[in-house]
Amino acid sequence: MVETTDALPAEVYRQLAAAVASRRHAMHAPVVAGGDGDARVMVLRGVDPALAALRFHTDARAPKVAALGVDPRVTVLGYDPAARVQMRLKGVARIEREGDAADAAWAATSTMGRRCYLALRAPGVAAATPGASLPEALAARRPTTAETAAGRLNFAVLLVSVLTIDWLRLDSRGGTRAVLQRAEPGAPWHGGWVAP
Ligand SMILES: Cc1cc2nc3c(=O)[nH]c(=O)nc-3n(C[C@H](O)[C@H](O)[C@H](O)COP(=O)(O)O)c2cc1C
Repeated sequence: MVETTDALPAEVYRQLAAAVASRRHAMHAPVVAGGDGDARVMVLRGVDPALAALRFHTDARAPKVAALGVDPRVTVLGYDPAARVQMRLKGVARIEREGDAADAAWAATSTMGRRCYLALRAPGVAAATPGASLPEALAARRPTTAETAAGRLNFAVLLVSVLTIDWLRLDSRGGTRAVLQRAEPGAPWHGGWVAP
């Protein structure tokens, strides 16, 4: 229960951390939309208490990577029916193909998870046949760790710094909504309750 808007960032963190931990959590796979208006479902892989690095994984060749490079504005949208909470988290995205965050994320990814990044065709590229363009030898089995090495080149992390929290909880009294904003990660949050 959120009694004051001061408690909201910590509550958002708590809900997102639960979503990261459980693939059954409704916010485990929120919608991530870019400033170009395109949107897609992505698995939320990590969150920090400062809400400065919501972590997603992506193929570095995917169209959203180029789009977010041009316009880093991003919205992460999720709805948890159990809690009756919608979260619209707006902020800025950065893509990291190298560095500690990408290296650690790759290291923590299973060989089956890594296999996606071995696809021969980039996401969205036209194909004569349906399905993934995995190398034939790996199409139906788990690759070895050594076999996944080539996938590292196609792997990137998408990190979102949240600058606006728009939080709505439905209830029988018409709902409760708050909007908080900050100028940059680490800066104080401003805002408060708004009409739902
Ligand atoms: C449940 C679910 C989870 C997904 N998780 C991811 C993910 O973690 N990362 C990702 O890049 N795409 C993920 N996708 C695929 C994207 O929704 C999207 O189809 C793909 O990334 C291409 O997006 P783009 O053309 O906007 O780059 C997921 C799709 C579904 C249905």
